[in-house]
Amino acid sequence: KEYVVAILGATGAVGHRMIEQLAASSIPVKQVKLLASARSAGKQMQFRDQMLTVEETTPASFEGVDLVLSSAGGATSKRFLPEAVKRGAVCVDNTSYFRMDPTVPLVVPEVNPEALAHHQGIIANPNCSTIQMVVALEPIRQAFGLKQVIVSTYQAASGAGQSALNEFKDQAQAYLNGEEMQAEILPTKGDKRHYPLAFNLLPQIDVLEENGYSHEEWKMIHETKKIMFGDMNSPAVKVTATCVRVPVAIGHGESVYFTVEDETATAEQIRAVLAQAPGVVVQDDLANQVYPQPLQAEGKGDTFVGRIRPDYENPGAFNMWIVADNLLKGAALNAVQNAEELVKRGLI
Ligand code: A2P
Repeated sequence: KEYVVAILGATGAVGHRMIEQLAASSIPVKQVKLLASARSAGKQMQFRDQMLTVEETTPASFEGVDLVLSSAGGATSKRFLPEAVKRGAVCVDNTSYFRMDPTVPLVVPEVNPEALAHHQGIIANPNCSTIQMVVALEPIRQAFGLKQVIVSTYQAASGAGQSALNEFKDQAQAYLNGEEMQAEILPTKGDKRHYPLAFNLLPQIDVLEENGYSHEEWKMIHETKKIMFGDMNSPAVKVTATCVRVPVAIGHGESVYFTVEDETATAEQIRAVLAQAPGVVVQDDLANQVYPQPLQAEGKGDTFVGRIRPDYENPGAFNMWIVADNLLKGAALNAVQNAEELVKRGLI
């Protein structure tokens, strides 16, 4: 079978990469429809050797569509994905809108591909920071048991979309020109106050909640539990997070402190487990100053792990440093990998 695939949000930072990743995938594609807002209707974009015209999204856009890859914001997913499902499409959604719905599988193919079998038309792609963390933690959990995770993130501007990335670059330019930096989007679209990211650090990603956490931090906690243990409130692992936007264009970094059940585990054993793990590349050679960096991870599909070392004060506790391209493994690539798994398992 060949599939008619719609990319919802095709003109965005993730949408662009969904087009590229679909083109490079094993999915047999009969036809591609590029969907965005009315602002982009008529725009030309390339899929393989074809030039395609972007269309304004309406419910009728999903007529005859088998597979939807979407990354056009939560409100757009809320509005259109039920329309697509009604018309028989299976949707892999990169927004957070459906992630905590118990009927919606939240899937990283290296970790919980079996959850795809329960889908009812929508599969959620996790948050970019969660994906790269669970790709590295799951093999450790399988080998040694996982008790607790304390993560601090160093997240790139592109995670907030193309317009945020443009804003960050304009700020950097303005700063170097001695001009005033303009801030209208970051830390998060729609919030009351905006601050420059260039030459700065913003400890707010997504909206701030009354419990003292940002929504991004909340997502890392509950998505990790749902992906690893099938329940967003699972007590099987303790997770806490601090999420920070840093002046990097592409590539999220994460400092992850974790404790394992097997207190005899060594950093050497963890390195060996990760070296065999799907989707992981270990870059951990201190003698040669080898460790993961966003500039080196950009454009790559792997999750890079390094600086693996024990907490010498606490048996069974370790630190590590994880980097991945937030637009690829953190978004477009993971979505396409989920779609490939759906095809492979006969679930579309
Ligand atoms: P458009 O370019 O027409 O605004 P990013 O995450 O990089 O900001 O991209 C967001 C994507 O979501 C863009 O492709 C954008 O299209 C699309 N989008 C935003 N609002 C809507 C909407 N109401 N209907 C369809 N697509 C939308």
